[in-house]
Amino acid sequence: MKNILVTGGSGFIGSNFIRHVMEAEPSCRVVNLDILTYAASAENAQGLALSEKYVFIKGDIGDQPLVEDLIRQYAIDTVVHFAAESHVDRSILGPAPFIHTNVLGTFSLLEATRKVWLEEKFLADGQARFHHVSTDEVYGSLERDDPPFSEITSYKPNSPYAASKASSDHLVRAYIHTYGFPATITNCSNNYGPYQFPEKLIPLVILNALAGNAIPIYGDGLQIRDWLYVEDHCQALLLTLKDGRLGETYNVGGGTQPSNLEIIQMICSIMDENFPTKAPHASLIRHIPDRPGHDRRYAMDIRKIQAELGWSPKWTLESGLRKTVAWYLSHLDWVKAIQNKKDFKSWMKQNYAVRLKEGEE
Ligand code: NAD
Ligand code: DAU
Repeated sequence: MKNILVTGGSGFIGSNFIRHVMEAEPSCRVVNLDILTYAASAENAQGLALSEKYVFIKGDIGDQPLVEDLIRQYAIDTVVHFAAESHVDRSILGPAPFIHTNVLGTFSLLEATRKVWLEEKFLADGQARFHHVSTDEVYGSLERDDPPFSEITSYKPNSPYAASKASSDHLVRAYIHTYGFPATITNCSNNYGPYQFPEKLIPLVILNALAGNAIPIYGDGLQIRDWLYVEDHCQALLLTLKDGRLGETYNVGGGTQPSNLEIIQMICSIMDENFPTKAPHASLIRHIPDRPGHDRRYAMDIRKIQAELGWSPKWTLESGLRKTVAWYLSHLDWVKAIQNKKDFKSWMKQNYAVRLKEGEE
């Protein structure tokens, strides 16, 4: 692993991963290919640009000639594919970009790497590796007492986002099977931590609590997610790149099972300690109409990655949430730059204005 192409490295997990890999593997060169959608921030990569081992390319994963050139120019031996449209609510209101990037973009990226690595034989055999970063949402939804998703659970994606990620997983799998394409896949649960775009639940709750705004909770708030601190995910990805068996899928998760209501209450208590207000922050919680097709519960069986790669999450939910709250409170300039953007304001209006009104009735 000498030259890594990271796609979507200016987003939440991608930027955390680049930091992680540049610290853990200082001799590696990292080329970050990102088109900089609304979900990316130039500041996410702040500091990285100072290193001569970091290269940023603004571009689309769907631009096959560009990707082929990058692989040849930088002698790319490893691709870590994060780039995606990632927000479930946006996929419900407008699925087209999800099909464009997550399905067609992944297809184009696979074609570019297949051509240069397998057809042109640009690298010696056994030198190349493609890692596809995917999600637990491809498996569908669990009932309260169902066993967790394992690597052999069949796919039942419920949202356009989940279906687009499932499609991309199937494409990677088919390339492995048909072409002997050197790839691995990880399916990971909900991440949280620094640089997460504030449309997602955890940063949204922290920032609304700080501003004294309503904290919107969909439906009864008893949906369950398996939360994982982003640094633990980055560690799992690096281990998979180093020791993961080609052709294999690994499930990654935090082993946590709080309901949305419980996790929001945990954040509110941490906010109460940091910023005591007259009424506790939990008094800002508002139940609003549910997300259409809302998955009830996700849980991951992580025994395979534990046994094969020796990975386990290091952060507890409590410690990860405290670290995350502290990060947002000390990065309010980063937050403000996003909140002041037209797109963010119009998204908040589009997704919440009517629902909050209905929630009050
Ligand atoms: P994000 O939305 O924060 O970042 C996505 C990045 O991809 C952005 O920087 C964006 O500009 C870039 N991008 C989008 N379309 C592109 C294109 N056509 N070409 C190049 N770049 C493009 O997403 P995230 O939360 O960091 O998720 C990263 C990956 O991890 C996604 O594939 C997602 O499905 C997967 N994942 C996320 C979670 C989670 O909880 N956030 C959990 C499991 C898996
Ligand atoms: O499970 C992995 C997935 O986790 C990733 O693949 C996705 O990219 C990522 O966005 C995330 O999807 P979720 O839909 O689970 O995350 P989100 O933060 O949007 O919502 C978490 C839960 O909180 C979910 O049950 C919906 C609920 N929610 C969310 C928002 C934004 C609310 O109740 N209110 C809200 O305002």
